[in-house]
Amino acid sequence: MKRDFLHITDFTTEEIWETIELAKWIKDKFRRREDYRPFAGRSLAMIFAKPSARTRISFETGFFRLGGHALFLGPNDIGIGKRESTADIACVISRYNDMIMARLFDHSDMLEMGKYATVPIVNGLTDFNHPCQIMADILTIYEHRGTLEDLQITYVGDGNNIVHSWLALAMRIPFKFIIACPEGYDPDQSMVTDARDAGLSTIEINHDAMNAVKGSDVIYTDVWASMGQKDEADKRRQEFKAFQVNDALMAATGKESLFMHCLPAERGVEVTDSVCDAHYSIIFDEAENRMHMQNAIMVKLMKDSGKI
Ligand code: CP
Ligand code: NVA
Repeated sequence: MKRDFLHITDFTTEEIWETIELAKWIKDKFRRREDYRPFAGRSLAMIFAKPSARTRISFETGFFRLGGHALFLGPNDIGIGKRESTADIACVISRYNDMIMARLFDHSDMLEMGKYATVPIVNGLTDFNHPCQIMADILTIYEHRGTLEDLQITYVGDGNNIVHSWLALAMRIPFKFIIACPEGYDPDQSMVTDARDAGLSTIEINHDAMNAVKGSDVIYTDVWASMGQKDEADKRRQEFKAFQVNDALMAATGKESLFMHCLPAERGVEVTDSVCDAHYSIIFDEAENRMHMQNAIMVKLMKDSGKI
């Protein structure tokens, strides 16, 4: 039996907390420069159909620091679904490597990989979701606030893959989640319904950003045009104008809120420099925590799959 991490809901609430604690433990070990090498003699295949900085660097560095070897397979190496079928490549990689990390366009390809691979798979982003990012984000919020009680988060921008993973987390951990997006850019309706039906968190959609941020502990944003949508960037810049995270929007929270962004940021577009570089901005803590959280996720999957 092997376990994958393709969605946050692949883990139970207990497993999410267990993984948060494990990430903190691994982070502490790294800080103390203590040896922890559970992946000695193991290898990770990293498949990238889209560009990346954080995901590639954090997975490759993290797997190496846990004693293993990670190999990078870029868009021109495999040609997934073009040169070879997703199913065949999943079977082939499973014969060489102990784990797969994949960043793909279609979420259905990620599910197909999970179905055919006999080794654990970690989702490093699809058009639909980005579970490792939001796991790292919740760890970062936990570290900064010391608790996840009474947490209110406003996401400002496009109802995209990042939002879908926040909605998935809302099915496992209770918080108030407000999505401030222009009309026509709401997240997937079935994800919103599922998150509401789970009955744990409060989910609101608000098309007025100034109003939506009031009282929130965290203001979170992402690019207005995701990878694969860059040809819509100009049109979106017009339509999202009222959703820029700037000093006025941060002041409208009425409290000392934290600012988060999964990065890469288009500074001056969805967020101003003044917010990105403010004392309340925790964007680089977030980026660092990608590595610690992913390490914890990989250790858990490898253990649960009997690979370490
Ligand atoms: N946040 C994130 O996944 O960054 P990259 O696209 O650079 O990997
Ligand atoms: N929504 C962005 C996230 C990048 C990490 C994208 O998909 O391009």
